[in-house]
Amino acid sequence: MYPGSFDPVTRGHEDLIRRSRAFVDRVVVAVAENAAKQPLFTVAERVALLREAVQVPGVEVQSFQGLLVDFARAVGAAVIVRGLRAVSDFEYEFQMALMNRNLDPKLETVFLVPAFDLTYLSSSLVREVARYGGDVSQLVHPAVNRALKTKFGT
Ligand code: PNS
Repeated sequence: MYPGSFDPVTRGHEDLIRRSRAFVDRVVVAVAENAAKQPLFTVAERVALLREAVQVPGVEVQSFQGLLVDFARAVGAAVIVRGLRAVSDFEYEFQMALMNRNLDPKLETVFLVPAFDLTYLSSSLVREVARYGGDVSQLVHPAVNRALKTKFGT
């Protein structure tokens, strides 16, 4: 299972989904509905954009509410995949991995490193640049680029 907010999906997320699929048969991309921050895209929009951006056999996109460990159990996931871009990601990811292990000791968290040229990328930066009319076309799927332009009227 590859969980996240995906607000919106970036080329960095797409890269991690493909890397995950290379070593497991089935990847469930799990879109969190209850993200703490007020998302730009609705959960239905985030799911639809992911489905358009990632059409890979063995990869499915679902949304979930509540605890990640409960959803992982419901879909039969044994491994949680998270991306680690920089040292700054580490503390939050470490805390989350240990909390998830505390909640379900059988569930392992695996960290993957994205492609070098996508390492600096984040959904929040993409949103910020797109909001002010900057070009993010190299950083997101064309469908996401269109959706951002529609959202911000740029
Ligand atoms: O893309 P993000 O925002 O870094 O993803 C964070 C996410 C959605 C994976 C995390 O907030 C989460 O798992 N939320 C579901 C609620 C939950 O289980 N919280 C406890 C995590 S230790």
